[in-house]
Amino acid sequence: MIADFRGKTAFITGGAGGIGLAMARAFGHAGMNVVVADIDEAAARAAVERLAAEQVKAVPVRCDVSDRAGVRAAALEAVAAFGKIHIVCNNAGVAVGGPIGTVGERDWDWIVDVNLKGVVYGVETFVPLIRSHGEGGHIVNTASMAGMISPPGMEPYSATKFAVVALTEGWAAQLAPAGIGVSALCPGFVRTRIHESGRTRQDKYGGVSEVDALGQGASEAAQAVLSGIDPDVVGARVLEAIKAGETYIFTHPNMREFVAMRFAAIMAAFDLAEQSPALKAVKEWTSPIFGSSQEP
Ligand SMILES: NC(=O)c1ccc[n+]([C@@H]2O[C@H](COP(=O)([O-])OP(=O)(O)OC[C@H]3O[C@@H](n4cnc5c(N)ncnc54)[C@H](O)[C@@H]3O)[C@@H](O)[C@H]2O)c1
Repeated sequence: MIADFRGKTAFITGGAGGIGLAMARAFGHAGMNVVVADIDEAAARAAVERLAAEQVKAVPVRCDVSDRAGVRAAALEAVAAFGKIHIVCNNAGVAVGGPIGTVGERDWDWIVDVNLKGVVYGVETFVPLIRSHGEGGHIVNTASMAGMISPPGMEPYSATKFAVVALTEGWAAQLAPAGIGVSALCPGFVRTRIHESGRTRQDKYGGVSEVDALGQGASEAAQAVLSGIDPDVVGARVLEAIKAGETYIFTHPNMREFVAMRFAAIMAAFDLAEQSPALKAVKEWTSPIFGSSQEP
């Protein structure tokens, strides 16, 4: 757990805009150095200029999170700039969606490589660096409310965000003994450019696309994003949640009922399993993950 933020350093992917820049601002105003890591170099430089005008010490670093070697190189640049890294925000993300059969192979590769594997590369790269200085740290993985509920038409996005929540839960338990906190940031709609994420789409996934990446219903989704909350509120909330050691960071308490409905449906399904004639044949239940054995 980080007790004092002053003089510590945060590395933020997708830091050039939206939620990433808002976290950079919040951390910077708390006295931290910030590494703005982004695939969009010009935007990263502009973000650093904005931060400097607010007396925040920041450097831009080019980083495509879908490239493991690139993440490693960006980490070394960050260490060269500020020495130890304490907070890592695996925040870069893109959006793709649409009806079944309309999401192309390269769309799937893009969203999985950026939203899911990008988070894995961030953690696998930075955890040894944080461990090595022994001062503890915190990792914030940007998931989404789409990591808690799966609205129809957003499955590629939700699948990656559910995965980020799963990774976070496991890693939080693995890294607690090392004094490294891990959180999943799960916002609802936030006013950013996520609906225009095709603007940075790499050539290997088909190149830059002016088309809204959210498929059919895109303009509706874009409207929802544009009517979302101010990213700076999310930045402030993340800082607060790191201090409190929260594993799940929610920013939209008004969306609680959707998660409650999903959990209620899951619990109801367990009720059915408990009453199932087919399962009566099982005499003893084991739960090897938790090391216990009990009757249903
Ligand atoms: N805006 C929302 O409503 C919302 C809600 C929930 C979760 N999120 C998540 O928040 C995170 C940040 O998105 P945002 O809303 O600020 O969108 P944004 O498009 O404004 O910012 C995303 C940033 O990521 C960068 N980026 C894109 N691909 C990259 C890559 N391969 N490597 C490095 N950087 C890359 C972009 O250049 C951009 O600066 C994403 O993970 C997104 O899924 C957004």
